[in-house]
Amino acid sequence: MIRNFELYNPTKLIFGKDKIKDLGHYLPKDKKILLLYGKGSIKKNGIYDEVTGILKDYDYIEYGGVEANPYYETLMPAIELCKKENIGFILAVGGGSVIDGAKFVAAGIKYKEGDPWDILIKHVKITESTPIGAILTLPATGSEMNGGSVISKKATQEKFAFGSPLSNPKFSILDTDVLKSLPERQIANGIIDAFVHTTEQYMTYPIGAKLQDRFAESILKTLVEEGPKFLADNYDEDAGANIMFCATMALNGTISAGVPTDWSIHSIGHELTALYGIDHGRTLAIILPSLYKTKLENKKEKLAQFGERVWCIKEGTTEEKALKAIEKTEEFFNSLGVPTKLHEYGSEIDKEFTVNEILSRFKNRGISNIGEDGILSLNDMEKILTSCF
Ligand code: NZQ
Ligand code: ZN
Repeated sequence: MIRNFELYNPTKLIFGKDKIKDLGHYLPKDKKILLLYGKGSIKKNGIYDEVTGILKDYDYIEYGGVEANPYYETLMPAIELCKKENIGFILAVGGGSVIDGAKFVAAGIKYKEGDPWDILIKHVKITESTPIGAILTLPATGSEMNGGSVISKKATQEKFAFGSPLSNPKFSILDTDVLKSLPERQIANGIIDAFVHTTEQYMTYPIGAKLQDRFAESILKTLVEEGPKFLADNYDEDAGANIMFCATMALNGTISAGVPTDWSIHSIGHELTALYGIDHGRTLAIILPSLYKTKLENKKEKLAQFGERVWCIKEGTTEEKALKAIEKTEEFFNSLGVPTKLHEYGSEIDKEFTVNEILSRFKNRGISNIGEDGILSLNDMEKILTSCF
């Protein structure tokens, strides 16, 4: 039976070609604005010029240099700058990292109780946040329409998430023209991130949530059909637009309404990024196959349903269909040019160290079980990490 749920999403989505030019309709006139961006892609593809052309009629300052997997160390000076300049609105222009960075800065400005890192490690409930808006340049994380944010700390090689409805962007512009400049690596990462967001909210056990299942399967099927077209040499505008909407819908609260979810691929994947800097989407491609094989007994019914409806697997027992579905998914990731074995990400990555380090990190945090209903133990995690090499 569908679980009770509340669904609320306060982000206005503005989708389509040439939509950046409407930015002025959504920006506040009465607040000083911080333009936040990444390491410079927007200066090469014209987005910076277009945005600053509109911002010249506003009171604004800028802060660039937010890196992929944004660091606390990079964002703290932005918080200080916002306080000094009395910033009342943050405009994030970039991928998930810049938007997540904006959410952290926005919450950090208002956090009076101590070090804003507490928001991530002590799970402090945010009671106030500076409003933000976003211009998304990379379809992947869903950060443009959710209240989540993932921040890393360079000093301790840690990566943690926080979330609040107060962190949702007030608006997000999804201008499909931004997709033209995306490198293949980021396109592939984004397709996989959206794919695994969907499976994390689907691959648990059947509860009779028919519509949520169909929503999730339609996102997965569209990613499988349109992903390779988007990645192909000839830029396919339609495929890009479809992937962009899929990525947003995969993590804006719709498909998780009333169903069990299991974020363990992300939890383990974040450790691989924290330790080795592996791109977020790629960590998910590494963990998914071995995690689903390890937890086959718990997940086989949904895996088989996914196999039938997304991969059109008709033959075999539930278990055979489930295993075939995992195999097809791994082949799909590989077909996007993404390796699914950890050793392929660098000869310096040592198996024994990685397994022990990640297990001890979870132990030190007092975590012995993750996954839906805590089905994934540290023993399972050891098996997953050992077999993903
Ligand atoms: O920094 P710049 O120069 O802008 O370049 C970026 C960066 O190098 C580049 N890029 C972005 N748009 C581009 C472009 N290059 C050319 N043309 C464009 N139009 O792409 C690189 C990666 O950008 P990044 O923002 O890091 O990628 P992504 O959107 O995949 O975000 C990853 C971060 O989001 C977190 C991840 O953990 C990671 O830190 N996540 C956030 C979530 C959320 N808030 O809900 C959920 C996700 O599961 C994820 O954990
Ligand atoms: Zn993700």
